[in-house]
Amino acid sequence: MALLDEAPSMYAQTIQLIQREQVGPDYHLLKFDCPQVAAAAQPGQFVHIRVAAKWDPLLRRPFSVLRTNEAEGSFQVLMRTVGRGTQMLAEAQPSTEFDIMGPLGNGFALPGPEGEAILVAGGIGVAPLIFLATVLHEPESYRYARGLFGARSADDLCCWLEFSGVCDEFTAVTQDGSAAEQGLVTDFLAPQLERGAGCVYACGPALMLAEVARQCQGAEIPCYASMEQRMGCGVGACLGCVIPTRASGAQRYQRVCKDGPVFDAQIVDWEAIRCGCTPG
Ligand SMILES: Cc1cc2nc3c(=O)[nH]c(=O)nc-3n(C[C@H](O)[C@H](O)[C@H](O)COP(=O)(O)OP(=O)(O)OC[C@H]3O[C@@H](n4cnc5c(N)ncnc54)[C@H](O)[C@@H]3O)c2cc1C
Ligand code: FES
Repeated sequence: MALLDEAPSMYAQTIQLIQREQVGPDYHLLKFDCPQVAAAAQPGQFVHIRVAAKWDPLLRRPFSVLRTNEAEGSFQVLMRTVGRGTQMLAEAQPSTEFDIMGPLGNGFALPGPEGEAILVAGGIGVAPLIFLATVLHEPESYRYARGLFGARSADDLCCWLEFSGVCDEFTAVTQDGSAAEQGLVTDFLAPQLERGAGCVYACGPALMLAEVARQCQGAEIPCYASMEQRMGCGVGACLGCVIPTRASGAQRYQRVCKDGPVFDAQIVDWEAIRCGCTPG
């Protein structure tokens, strides 16, 4: 309850879907009318959406903000359909109303003036990195950005044109070689790190993030990883989204929704994540 009292009223509201566009076999761009999120959202933050007017499914679904349009008072998310909740959103008609909370979580800290930024996206993890690259592309916050985008196949390189359009350099990779370079996105990171960089930002599957973190640690380049975890409340109350960390040397669990989703990669306990160790 205290958490609800703490949150300004703008964090929970009913908003309208104003546009839904299919941009790949399993991908949709959803645009919502919401001046508050449009004005406040930072790259890496997410919105927590109740996908149905009734209580089924009970839990909200989290989605990264892809881009905002403050003049229009709208924001967009890029959604991959994976299950029941995302299927319901993929079928929603414009003008449908949704109960949302957001923007939530801690986004990416912008890089300092020194050094270039490397942005490493895996699959749907491209969404918050497009938002970050867009901000880094703006004259007042400009930083040279090198984008790496890996996906399973050409169909999953969704929005790569949007991503490449806001990066100064860009490499795309598919695991099956159906488009661009063949391999894992992490196979292409080492030469980038050898050139030096001020900071690396990554979002994608946990094993990809673990490998990015390992390489960045070896190269002594700071790395920020946006973590995905199944969520309950989305505001830090239920502890349903914790990940193992080693903050200040001691092992403890931190909440992806409230302490993240963006974490300094050096404090995440990647070994525990790799072996699937859970809290308790
Ligand atoms: C901070 C954050 C940001 C996210 N941003 C995006 C985004 O921009 N675009 C997007 O398409 N998706 C994003 N996701 C993942 C998205 O929330 C899930 O895909 C969605 O909740 C699945 O709902 P569902 O009912 O369709 O799937 P379910 O029927 O609940 O599950 C279907 C499958 O998806 C897996 N899954 C469910 N929830 C998650 C989750 N939170 N993370 C990882 N796997 C999950 C399940 O394990 C299962 O295999 C994000 C998740 C987090 C935590
Ligand atoms: S989802 Fe409840 S604490 Fe994070």
